[in-house]
Amino acid sequence: MEGKFIVTGGNRLNGTVNISGAKNSILALMTAAALAKEDVLLNNIPLNSDVYTMGEILASLGVKVVFQGNTVIINGATINTYKPPYELVRKIRASVYAAGLLLARLGHTEVALPGGDEIGSRPVDLHIRGFQALGAEVSVEHGFMICKCSKLTGAKYYINKASVGTTINMMIAASLADGVTILENPAKEPEIVDTAILLNGMGAKIRGAGTDTIRIEGVTELHGCEHSPIPDRIEAGTFMIANAAVGGEIQITNVLSEHLRIPIAKLREAGAEIIEGDTDLVVKSTGRLKAVDVDTAVFPGFATDLQAPFGVLLSQAEGTGIIRETIFDNRFRYIEELRRMGADVKVERDTAIFRGIERLSGAPVEATDIRAGVALVIAGLMADGTTEVSGIYHIDRGYEHFDLKLKNLGAVIERIS
Ligand code: EPZ
Repeated sequence: MEGKFIVTGGNRLNGTVNISGAKNSILALMTAAALAKEDVLLNNIPLNSDVYTMGEILASLGVKVVFQGNTVIINGATINTYKPPYELVRKIRASVYAAGLLLARLGHTEVALPGGDEIGSRPVDLHIRGFQALGAEVSVEHGFMICKCSKLTGAKYYINKASVGTTINMMIAASLADGVTILENPAKEPEIVDTAILLNGMGAKIRGAGTDTIRIEGVTELHGCEHSPIPDRIEAGTFMIANAAVGGEIQITNVLSEHLRIPIAKLREAGAEIIEGDTDLVVKSTGRLKAVDVDTAVFPGFATDLQAPFGVLLSQAEGTGIIRETIFDNRFRYIEELRRMGADVKVERDTAIFRGIERLSGAPVEATDIRAGVALVIAGLMADGTTEVSGIYHIDRGYEHFDLKLKNLGAVIERIS
């Protein structure tokens, strides 16, 4: 589990980086695929540890999971267990999707409350209310969510918060329910649309994904198909911010800029030059940027998953930049580590005030979650001297070969296992 990155600052970035399939899409796609009793092929998947953990969770239920390079074959014909192992479920937040799958396929499930990134309280009350709306009996006992329902029935469900996970879980559960389900106030992230596209490719009848209302007409069975997930907008955004903050000129390939409208606008406002192609972006920067303000928001707003990398960029920008984190209640933990590198940041409840300094200085720091981890690596690329980033298993959860991709762009970064 333990491993470190030794990062030496000072080099500009140059070259081309190719973006992998979206982690937060593929975790939903793998689970949705297991609704069918035929092979579903998912291509261009990111080989990160969260994907392997999801594969283990599904395999523990009796689902066939076969990795072939960057393709995974999923077949849910032999699902035979309603309770995935506690130690696997605790590892990732997306394990909660197993509840929607098992309710739809077996009418019974006992799933431990999910784990994953420690970025604040991560309740599942909206998932529970959704399953209850579909007719399931749900109780939480000894840390397990216990759901029972012989046959789910379509219903109307207003989701109190535009929750990505709840929206995905409801699409998974409702696809095989009796009748029509209407989701109001669903999340509109591209990963929601991607999951609906896969499910419809399997024979589901889902309309309105990406809008304020999603209509799911239950069907009796789903069939196999082949699908490639959308590119990972958060990985792409991470490299965009890294180059803007460090300086240089990079081409990012396999990216959809319509998934990054606000981050692109904010980086331009800060002084980076961004040239948009059909499926690629070129980012140019002197590394000396102006401070700007950012509020995180649900899609199409500024993604909360890019908040930490952007905060690091602000720590060396000219002037004072203010970030308001409106999605999670404890997603500033990286700032404590950034202060070790000399950053001048004040945190007041959901707001962080960054007073840009001339230059961060390298120091030993600890990653606390996926995005905090990559943010601290970016800080190391900007800093004077060497930065040791520990807890890099967090980074490996969400990025495929993050260090190798950076090294190919000219960064000085070594992995110490
Ligand atoms: C997904 O988490 C992503 N994870 C997160 O990415 C991402 O930050 C988040 O969506 C928001 O975009 C995956 O897709 C695996 P939510 P999720 O339900 O589904 C509250 C990363 O770095 N809420 O949209 O858990 C919740 O506490 C990760 O890749 C409830 O109150 O996010 C939060 O404040 C981190 N009750 C808000 O809603 C519920 O039942 C948004 O959460 C569910 C959520």
